[in-house]
Amino acid sequence: MPSFDIVGDVAIIKYREDLDIESLADYILEKHKNVNNVAVDYGVEGETRVRNVKLLRGTTLETVHREFGVRMKVDVSKVYFSPRLATERWRVVQEVQDGEKIYDMFCGVGPFSLLIGKYKNVEIYASDINPAAIAYLNENIKLNKLSNIHSILGDAAEVWKTLPKVNRVIMNLPHDSYHFLEYAINVLSPNGKINYYEILPKDVDLYGRFSEFPVKVLNVRRVHEYSPAKTLFSFLLTI
Ligand SMILES: C[S@@+](CC[C@H](N)C(=O)[O-])C[C@H]1O[C@@H](n2cnc3c(N)ncnc32)[C@H](O)[C@@H]1O
Repeated sequence: MPSFDIVGDVAIIKYREDLDIESLADYILEKHKNVNNVAVDYGVEGETRVRNVKLLRGTTLETVHREFGVRMKVDVSKVYFSPRLATERWRVVQEVQDGEKIYDMFCGVGPFSLLIGKYKNVEIYASDINPAAIAYLNENIKLNKLSNIHSILGDAAEVWKTLPKVNRVIMNLPHDSYHFLEYAINVLSPNGKINYYEILPKDVDLYGRFSEFPVKVLNVRRVHEYSPAKTLFSFLLTI
């Protein structure tokens, strides 16, 4: 079954050699009346996790995606965005308590921050190393009339040093979160929580994963399959 995502009015087809991409693009336009643009995705690249996408139908890759009443402007060729995490993000919103200070380390255009900021009375620091992601986050903060999100352009390995202690860190960099865990621990208040995402082999020892660090695994969930051998896991950690 060919796999595609819909972000706002843009459909993104995952490239596969055996696919008739042109016919699929026409089929999607015919079947999904909310789609005006179709692109093909040749894979996520580099530190900023931006997709290598090519527009096949339509005129633009910039769109406004809606998720649980939040509007997010995004250009899928300039920033990372995945609609597949919507349910997981909504689950995290339910976990957050009013009054928390939160650090969204790898915020992208801000889906975690915007959802939490809209539904909870919290203060959020959101950083990303991609200037385009922070520019969209700033637009999205205005689009949703929020005043509780501080956006920061920079490397999370440095940004944490400029922040006050927080009650929660969100670490959505599933290929590389492990290398930033020490910074999350450093910026966390006692009993603070870390929403940690990592892509791991299906048979890995999940509870032994963090033996190098002074953290406790409160729970772990499978978010979705990443490949036949790997899964995206969501861990709730505490110190
Ligand atoms: C997988 S994306 C997640 C974005 C967002 N949380 C979401 O759910 O759409 C990871 C993001 O981390 C950013 N990033 C990568 N390395 C970083 C670093 N050292 N410091 C801050 N952001 C970084 C990338 O630019 C990208 O936007």
